[in-house]
Amino acid sequence: MPTDPPDLSRFSLVQPPAGFIDDPYPWYAALRQAAPVHALGPESWLLTRYDDVLHVYRSGHASSDQKREFAPKYGPSPLFEHHTTSLVFNDPPLHSRVRRILMGALNQRAIARMEAGVVALVDQLLDRLADTPEPDLIEHFAALIPVEVIGNLLDVPRSEREPLRAWSLAILSALEPAPSADLLARGNAAVSEFLAYLRGLVAQRKARPGDPDLDVLTRLMLGDGQGSLSEAELLHNCIFLLNAGHETTTNLIGNGLHALLRHPRQLERLRHEPALIGTAVEELLRFESPLQLNNRLTTAPIELPSGHTLAAGCFVTLAIGAANHDPAEFHAPEQLELARKPNNHLAFGQGAHACSGMNVARLEARVALPRLLARYPKLALRGQPVRDRRVRFRGLRQLPVSL
Ligand code: HEM
Repeated sequence: MPTDPPDLSRFSLVQPPAGFIDDPYPWYAALRQAAPVHALGPESWLLTRYDDVLHVYRSGHASSDQKREFAPKYGPSPLFEHHTTSLVFNDPPLHSRVRRILMGALNQRAIARMEAGVVALVDQLLDRLADTPEPDLIEHFAALIPVEVIGNLLDVPRSEREPLRAWSLAILSALEPAPSADLLARGNAAVSEFLAYLRGLVAQRKARPGDPDLDVLTRLMLGDGQGSLSEAELLHNCIFLLNAGHETTTNLIGNGLHALLRHPRQLERLRHEPALIGTAVEELLRFESPLQLNNRLTTAPIELPSGHTLAAGCFVTLAIGAANHDPAEFHAPEQLELARKPNNHLAFGQGAHACSGMNVARLEARVALPRLLARYPKLALRGQPVRDRRVRFRGLRQLPVSL
């Protein structure tokens, strides 16, 4: 909890206040109320109100190009090349081109085709859990689903998937507001190893192309009517895709299970009304959003609904977790309400960069959560969950349970 009264003038994401990582919501509430446009540094602002965050996502004057931010943070390095080449940190034309190619392979038809495989995978993991002496729902369940789903999307051979999760964690951890030298070194090594691996995979795929309707790598390699992507564009966007769907979806399933175990009435309701799973997944995304922060650079002044104006050239941090708990948008936002409707949460962002894989993530959670609850009706926490200590990604490293 914040001290009384919370000293918001010194609130920072680089050195978050004590207790913030365990429970950021009291701080978000104080910021929304007293400092909805909070200075994080010169020309750097943190937005916490839903309407303000949504406005910036939809603004034509908010760039995703992060070169100015990343140059001093990463220097000339593999991490700099990676993060400045992936679609999420670019504006058109590169952004729109890669996004168009990608979205062609992540359409509803393609996702519907994935469902049977996700069901089979989840059931296999649930079988294995029964024989696991000390089951941890992160290590033995949530973390094992996205790696297979994304691995299938790019048709990465099963026996080669093992290092993907560690690479992904190392690369995304370097996006923290103030990564340590050790985090940077691990992130750079992970980009280099990942690139070397993908070069080999691309060479094999060139020799034996896959079906572009099913295989995202083949689709990205084919390019579009405007020609192919450069080698760097192809490889870094594959890395991004493999990363984007990993940790976030692990955290959706892990945070979701943790929230349900802390709200037994809601958990029982979901058990008895499995048809609630659609709204339940949206509520779990809102309640404990796996990605808490996004960033933009203003390219012209932006007038916010809260009445403040952001000048051109500002670095803006959009607090998704705070927006998703804003009482101006959500009735009783601190309550978990699995049937909540409407629920226009911002867990997948909004606007031109809204998550391309949102329906893949939804599919994984809609399959995993009810099947686990049905299979293990006595599921309960066994000891303290261990929280990941980062501010951008919200999730657990361990969720020990008894079955
Ligand atoms: C619960 C899981 C997920 C969450 C919470 C999440 C969240 C987000 C958010 C907030 C953004 C917007 C970034 C911005 O505006 O700067 C984003 C972008 C993106 N996500 Fe996800 N994501 C999830 C799962 C996935 C999956 C499974 C995939 C791939 C299969 C994926 C692929 C992408 C891609 C490609 C982008 C970039 C889109 C663009 O820049 O146009 N995500 N995601």
